[in-house]
Amino acid sequence: MATLLHNHRPLAAAAATVALVLVTILSPDASRVAAVSILGALHTPGDVPFVAAHRGGADGAPENTLPAFRLALASTAEFVETDLQLTSDGVPVLMHDFTLDRTTNGSGPVWANSWDTVSHLDAGSWFDPAFAGTGVPRLDDLLELVRPTTKRILLEVKGSWTEDQLTPVVASIRANDMEGRVVVASFDLTSLVAARAVGPDLQRVLIIRSVEGDPAALAASCGASAIVTSKAFLRADPGVVARIHNAGLGVMIYTLNSGTTWADAVDLGVDGIITDKPRELDVWLAKNG
Ligand code: G3P
Ligand code: CA
Repeated sequence: MATLLHNHRPLAAAAATVALVLVTILSPDASRVAAVSILGALHTPGDVPFVAAHRGGADGAPENTLPAFRLALASTAEFVETDLQLTSDGVPVLMHDFTLDRTTNGSGPVWANSWDTVSHLDAGSWFDPAFAGTGVPRLDDLLELVRPTTKRILLEVKGSWTEDQLTPVVASIRANDMEGRVVVASFDLTSLVAARAVGPDLQRVLIIRSVEGDPAALAASCGASAIVTSKAFLRADPGVVARIHNAGLGVMIYTLNSGTTWADAVDLGVDGIITDKPRELDVWLAKNG
């Protein structure tokens, strides 16, 4: 029986994927269905938002390293946020800056260095000598780490990505059975359109600093199920969270690291808070949420 169930798993996954894509295309409430499936019920002011650990939760360990991700997985954060780039030979690695200089003992752009070079770098000493020897993780390392848990990954693809570049990324996500738990994020609309083409069943979120016009319409143009934006953007337009929610989309806010800003986020009614301090935010939400 176990074998029978196991053999039917790919079929069931394919059917679920087709169903999700059909729902997304056909239903007038498709965006809301998609947003709720990955973010939970959309929030109103006063509701407790979910937590996403920014760069793995960059306060307790060097950002975007396995020690940081392990800390995030031990917290109550629902999402681990990270940043994806490609080495010169096309290996997806987790690093925020476009160059290696700030967070490693290497130098130059990530895209100009091979995985062989990047794999030997120290990405921990800059943060604290106790983390000397901590390496730069590949996407595969994070997928393997998160897979046995119930957490999700907010995967920000840095810069601009083509379908060809995203194809192996989506393949890795699928190989780890993580397509339902990885949300692709980008400031770049073109990259999200490419992500939709390569993995239409993977959820996407659009990150914006500012936008003229309707942010929900912009998100809808790439099939995103949520907007990620700043407190300044949301504060500038008091009705914007409700309008985005009415369009069926979620709202996440970045990057908030203090009680006063977390209180503002709860008042605004955002669905999720991205923070460098997931453990501190846990405690704050338990007291104030
Ligand atoms: O998720 C949004 C946030 O991570 C974008 O800012 O510069 O920290 O990647 P940054
Ligand atoms: Ca990021």
